[in-house]
Amino acid sequence: MGESPRPHLVVLTGAGISAESGIQTFRASDGLWADHSVEEVATLEAWHRDPERVLRFYDARREQVRRARPNAAHRALAALEAQGFRVSIITQNIDDLHERAGSRDVLHLHGEILQARSSVDPRLRYPLRRGGIRLGDVCDKGSQLRPDVVWFGESVPRFGEACEIAAEADLLLVVGTSLAVMPAASLLDQVGMDVPCVLVDPEAHALAPPGVTRFDQPAGKGVPALTRHWQREGRLWVPDPLSG
Ligand code: APR
Repeated sequence: MGESPRPHLVVLTGAGISAESGIQTFRASDGLWADHSVEEVATLEAWHRDPERVLRFYDARREQVRRARPNAAHRALAALEAQGFRVSIITQNIDDLHERAGSRDVLHLHGEILQARSSVDPRLRYPLRRGGIRLGDVCDKGSQLRPDVVWFGESVPRFGEACEIAAEADLLLVVGTSLAVMPAASLLDQVGMDVPCVLVDPEAHALAPPGVTRFDQPAGKGVPALTRHWQREGRLWVPDPLSG
């Protein structure tokens, strides 16, 4: 792409980008939080109270992820990077579909379901190539392993890094998130003053903060439509939301 600096796209993704791959979102009427209570499966208190239940919940998430395949939206972002754009993905998702599509710069804000980690030392992480975590599985320090996910009430250790990445964006693309969870949602405030921001989500009209261009479309349609524009022109810009 010549000698000019590579356009830098920063992408914030949420559960909606993986919906068309068959992974349930959280806050839909048939979403995960309709069937499971956060307090019973996604807090440190739940883990201490009933670790087996928490492990069962994440076993099911892991199996769903293993069965899923990247969809057109994941693939379009990877293809943009392969064409020479700088594409930094900050995902709230614990699946590995961005990586499997071929994206190389992916930061998982809320952890990764295909990793276990020590319950005493978060630096001790272990890939889960098959199976899951059982009670009695321990880290190198002898403590029980837990899913490497950030639970409600826990700090988000990689948030500072994510802010630094967002601050370097030439354009921020937000895909498939209800923007209901902090601090992830506040990444929209971290981009430079004149940096355009677009949201692709079937509910974008209801969710997008002022100043954000809305594409009321599923990710599998909206994201490839945008990346086609960018690939054609070799630059990042915001097309008319209706131009498809
Ligand atoms: N394409 C794009 N977006 C979609 C699609 C689709 N095909 N289908 C649904 N969506 C949108 C919904 O309209 C909604 O805005 O995806 C969004 C999903 O929102 P949530 O379920 O709230 O998921 P998310 O924003 O990722 O949640 C953030 O909450 O519980 C936690 O830790 C969990 O990382 C998660 C965080």
